[in-house]
Amino acid sequence: MLRGKTILLGVTGGIAAYKAAILCSKLVQKGAEVHVIMTESAVRFIAPLTLQTLSRHPVHLDTFDEQNPGAVTHIDLADRADLILIAPATANSLAKLAAGLADDMLSTTLLAATAPIIAAPAMNVHMYEHPATVANMETLGRRGVRFIDPGTGQLACGYVAKGRLAEPEDIVLAAERFFASRTLLAGKRLLVTAGGTVERFDPVRYLTNDSSGKMGFAIAEAARDMGAEVTVVAARTDVPAPGGVELVRVESAEQMLEAVLSRYAEADIVVKAAAVADYRPVERHASKLKKSAATLTLELEKTTDILAELGRRKSGQFLVGFAAETERLAEHAMDKLRRKNCDLIVANDVTMEGAGFGGDTNAVQVFDAAGPALSLPVLGKRETAERVLELVAARLGGAREEAR
Ligand code: PMT
Repeated sequence: MLRGKTILLGVTGGIAAYKAAILCSKLVQKGAEVHVIMTESAVRFIAPLTLQTLSRHPVHLDTFDEQNPGAVTHIDLADRADLILIAPATANSLAKLAAGLADDMLSTTLLAATAPIIAAPAMNVHMYEHPATVANMETLGRRGVRFIDPGTGQLACGYVAKGRLAEPEDIVLAAERFFASRTLLAGKRLLVTAGGTVERFDPVRYLTNDSSGKMGFAIAEAARDMGAEVTVVAARTDVPAPGGVELVRVESAEQMLEAVLSRYAEADIVVKAAAVADYRPVERHASKLKKSAATLTLELEKTTDILAELGRRKSGQFLVGFAAETERLAEHAMDKLRRKNCDLIVANDVTMEGAGFGGDTNAVQVFDAAGPALSLPVLGKRETAERVLELVAARLGGAREEAR
């Protein structure tokens, strides 16, 4: 997986910097071309010569140390990287990256880079849990930076707690998993719905729900990064849509039905993450309703259940539904899976802290026809999306194996 890949290794100033030597060596042994950038503080912990010898390339320390007049080194390094690893990543380096600071070779290169970033934090437990560090990591997570959790154990500062740099083997594994995931859905067409539908009853008033579109967009983004050709049918959302996907804007459940059905035949995988209205106003008034009587009764009628319709018309598509539940999650989710003929259903308890509508995280349980298939803790919506799509890819791979 790492052979021929260009990996930029950013080493920042913590005691765990010595482990960067082992990491660098392992990456090179696996066939990666490794270029190392060290911060001024990292150099206090480990000699650049060590990393130069192991990587077989000069180590970059100073933005202004331009040896090659034919290139601007930090831009060149940023452009060439297939992946950037920051290990160890100190609280300071994460803060700088979150704030967009560019005051040394590493931060300047990171700001210029479009390559994916995996950071392996290492620091004192209180620094790791400080609200500033937590907020910085959340900001970076939203921008697509992945993290390898630090381990728990004896820290250099004397505490026995969380904050130890992940083992170099685990960082290498994360890099390998990252490259492997890039082709998991290659050649597949994935259709995903996102956001909350809007059901109007006059020109300025409507019924909707709390969906922000984040979960559906996270699915779209993760599927795109796994090599799928992605179409998102998005109703009302609060967040910018991901790039590199086909975006179809709709408003109501009826429009979503039409948009999804017209693209269904070409889809290999359909994920229904949108929160779709179950009922819509019977009447849609042409002009703004006037205030008159003390009460107003809105008559509602059922919308078409899009997912159930897709389940009925299934002709080889892999169908993934979502279930937003407030009680008896497994029971309701399994009922929806069967009624709507889904291959998988992703259930979230929307009353749970860190899960459901609006936020950047979710906690889901995935079911198949046989019962529980995957249970995930509170994770970023992007990571949740990746884990769900890994399961989809595994199921599709399994189906291919059986067909042989
Ligand atoms: O958008 P976010 O703020 O990130 O929030 C994410 C989420 C909570 C919206 C998402 O995780 C989620 O749970 N989406 C499904 C919401 C929902 O409508 O759940 P439901 O249990 O009411 O519906 C079950 C399934 O049927 C869903 O896949 C839904 O898209 C589909 N459905 C429902 C009604 C309908 N008329 N047509 C449908 O296709």
